[in-house]
Formats: sequence, structure tokens, C-alpha cells
Amino acid sequence: MTETLEFTQQRSDRPKSAEERAAILANPGFGKHFTDHTAVVDYKVDADGSGGWSNARIEPYGPIMMDPAAAVLHYGQEIFEGLKAYQHDDGSVWTFRAEANAARLNTSARRLALPELPEETFIESLRQLVAADKAWVPTGDGEALYLRPFMIATEAFLGVRPAHEVSYRVIASPAGNYWGGELKPVSIWLSDRYSRAGEGGTGEAKCGGNYAASLAAQLEAEANGCQQVLFLDKFNDNAIEELGGMNVFFVFKDGSLVTPELNGHILHGVTRSSVIELAKDRGLDVQERKITIDEWRDGVAAGDITEAFACGTAAVITPIGELKADGWSIASPSAGSGEVAMSIRQELLGIQTGAVEDSRGWLTRL
Ligand code: COI
Repeated sequence: MTETLEFTQQRSDRPKSAEERAAILANPGFGKHFTDHTAVVDYKVDADGSGGWSNARIEPYGPIMMDPAAAVLHYGQEIFEGLKAYQHDDGSVWTFRAEANAARLNTSARRLALPELPEETFIESLRQLVAADKAWVPTGDGEALYLRPFMIATEAFLGVRPAHEVSYRVIASPAGNYWGGELKPVSIWLSDRYSRAGEGGTGEAKCGGNYAASLAAQLEAEANGCQQVLFLDKFNDNAIEELGGMNVFFVFKDGSLVTPELNGHILHGVTRSSVIELAKDRGLDVQERKITIDEWRDGVAAGDITEAFACGTAAVITPIGELKADGWSIASPSAGSGEVAMSIRQELLGIQTGAVEDSRGWLTRL
């Protein structure tokens, strides 16, 4: 039986002033501003080889003191999660499918040879951090407090083996639209030079290395006027995998909704699985299957594919306006509206913010 850890509290003696906080909350952007506190839990492997979590605490947000030989700085032994906290009309704060994030953190932990964190400690870390920084939860349309749990190998040791000292932390950041400004369809760049993941690799894990490996392709996307990059599986008929930081869906004229199947390379997106459930409940024929870049191109040309959209915790649901590739492009016929995408987005945000009944028990009060 795991012992439930109690969080000790060390409150910041230099929190941002109410004026500074209000200025940030008026236009939070994404990932630029951080709250006054952080949650931390330490892990250590003892001499007898047994390991355990201890010293759960809330402490002031600030730089991490770390040995320059810490394993994470050399071998990238790191995993993370992303989820959001929403303030409802009565002032209560809720998070969405946090158990799914706790489970995925542990799947990632197993792949990166990091210790698993008990689900109750994961949820409690969010609860304690949000209690300390409740004033930071934004309430604007489509806004929320983005919670970023992460785990890093802190042991100072240069041999290549799983670290014996690890730190689990959560930081929080008020968030609006991931791309800034009003929600608009995004342009996607097709990377035919880089892969995101391969068979037996870390594609399914939410680890920093996957995102670091996407950045050269992301630079290419930006140089071509696009906001995200799409990765294909070149060894599987150019099957569509995912974007640099989000999953992808296609709406067909016949009422089906298609998303790439979870083939071991693709992140098990919590928003992805929520979209699948919401769409099935609407009677859409949801297909998790292989979809190639040729099927997208031909499907749009023939009028069979009517929408494409990206989804993720940060992106929520964002229509894809166009796909650009070297020498050709696919325009989405409903680039401006993305009717199905926007309707599912509205339902999802409605559940998250308390405007639509949570009949599936997806919300947890923090
Ligand atoms: C999220 O959607 O929470 C992610 O981790 C993706 C990242 C690109 C912000």
C-alpha cells in the first residue's frame, strides 16, 4: 500500500502584485507567465535498491538548483504532462480527466525508466498548487490555468543508467489561445525530411526528447509561413502520424471522423480520446485507422474530406486551414468555419467550464 504524502507549505514572500497579475490575466497568451508557486516531490533510490517518494511540498516558484552533472542535462531523462484547471461560475476550480494524465505520466515513466508516481499524489499536487495560486485561474473565453507536471532525473552521475534521484514538479501558467490572439485556422507544414518517431522508439511517451526532435522541422514550418508541422510514417505508405504538439482528425462528407490509429508512435492524447467519445455519442462513425497523405489530398480534391483539425490540451480543437508541402498544398474547403470541429470544441469547452453537464464524470474538483 502506498502512503499518501502530505504537502508542506512554504508560501512565496514575493508573489506578483494584484496589479501585475491582473495585467497578465488580461492577455495571458500561452506559456509565457507563471504563477507564484510550484509543487515538488522528491524520489530517491536507497542503498538497498528500494525507492520512494518523499518531501512533498509547495514552494515559491523560482529557478531550480541542480548539479551540472544531473542526468537530465546530459541524457534527457525527462517526461511531462499538460492539463488545465477551469474556474466555474460559482468560483470552484476543476480539472479535466486528470486520472488519464496520471496514467499517461506513468506510461511515459516506464518508457523513460523513471519512477511511477501514485495517482493520488499526482492529483494532490495539482490540488495543492491550485489552492496556493487560485487567483491565477483566468476566466476569459477559452482561457484556463495550464498545469505542467514534469519529472526530471536530478542525480549527478554521468554513467548511462536510470538516475537514482528524481524530482517531480508542477508549474502553472495562465493560458489563452495556444497561437495567440483570436482562434483562427492554422497552416500546417508537411515535413518530408524529418520523422517524429519510429518503431520501438519513444513516440508514445510524453518526453521532452520527442519535442526537441521536432524543432528543426518546426523551424522549417515557420520558414514556410506555417504554425505547425505534420509528421508522416515514411515506412508505412506515408501514413499521417501527428503534428509537432497535437493529434489530428479528418471529417468526411459521409459523417465519418478519422484519426490515425495508436500505432505505438503516436501520443495517446487525452483531448483526442475525448473527441472520439463526444463524436461517437453524436452518432458519428469514428474510425481510428491508417490514413495516408495521399488519402487526405485525394479526399479533399474529390470533396470527400470536408474538414481537418488539430487537437490537444494546449490547442483544444483548432481547425486546419491548409497543408503546405514542398511544391504543392491542400486547402481545406471549410477553412474558415470547420463546422464539426467548432461544434465539438464548444461542447468540450462547455464540459470543462461547467456550462455543459459532465455526464461522463470527467471533471475533478481541485
Ligand atoms: C499539450 O497540449 O498540453 C502539450 O503538451 C503540447 C505542447 C505543444 C504544448
